[in-house]
Amino acid sequence: MYEVVSKKRLADSVTLLEIQCPAIAAKAKAGQFVIVRQKENSERIPLTLSDWDAESGTITLIFQHAGRSTHELALVEEGETIRDVVGPLGRPTEIEKYGTVVCVGGGIGLAVLRPIARAMKEAGNTVISIIGARDKSLLILKDEMHSASSELHVTTDNGSYGRHGLVSDVLDELIGEGRAIDLVVAIGPVPMMRGISDKTRPHGLKTVVSLDSIMIDGTGMCGGCRVTIGGETKFTCVDGPDFDGHMVDWDELVTRKKMYSEHEKECMALFRAECGGGAGGDE
Ligand code: FES
Repeated sequence: MYEVVSKKRLADSVTLLEIQCPAIAAKAKAGQFVIVRQKENSERIPLTLSDWDAESGTITLIFQHAGRSTHELALVEEGETIRDVVGPLGRPTEIEKYGTVVCVGGGIGLAVLRPIARAMKEAGNTVISIIGARDKSLLILKDEMHSASSELHVTTDNGSYGRHGLVSDVLDELIGEGRAIDLVVAIGPVPMMRGISDKTRPHGLKTVVSLDSIMIDGTGMCGGCRVTIGGETKFTCVDGPDFDGHMVDWDELVTRKKMYSEHEKECMALFRAECGGGAGGDE
């Protein structure tokens, strides 16, 4: 059993849980994930680590209430326990001294990007971060990304905070200004990561994306996270979650994500009928 030592609501449909997991906190690296099972009969949820503290023995998970399982997880309160937390799993992000790294994050992707930006800065890179959300109320981890970066740009789609526009607009400008960029890390919604990869490809800018959002159970068994990378079949939970954005078969990935959306809607309808879907948030 793993105790939830603190809980915060970061945005309307986004919850932070800090969980006592000393063994995982001692070994965690940026880009890795854990599998959470709230109760004996709950589904397994793979969630990428947003933070950890080896001294206090805690890990931090930030997740969007996107389906039944995450809505249920958001109902766990401080002082309560979670049945299983397994990890750290997945291949860590390759952290080295590249020079200038541009970290582009959107929405809940910032939870994954934060430790990567921090590790890149600690490795001696100049980290230019571009973070965004649809609306100010959905923007998370702004202060944390500020500390993890040498330079921070903030956008909102509707102009309610920071610059009015998309994260890709700022990347366009940096490239247009001829800024030296050695690596781009893009983490967020699939259309955003695809768009960033399309922009960097003609400039030969190496671009890493995290496909963690496609994982189902994170065990390497269900096959739900299968992706095609440079013509080869890969499993996101075993071979990733990070991949070269220029090698991803994005059309296949979009189709795969759509396959699960109908089933998820049915599960949510059932959950709401059972308990009113008390965690709030979107679908
Ligand atoms: S998430 Fe099931 S095989 Fe990767």
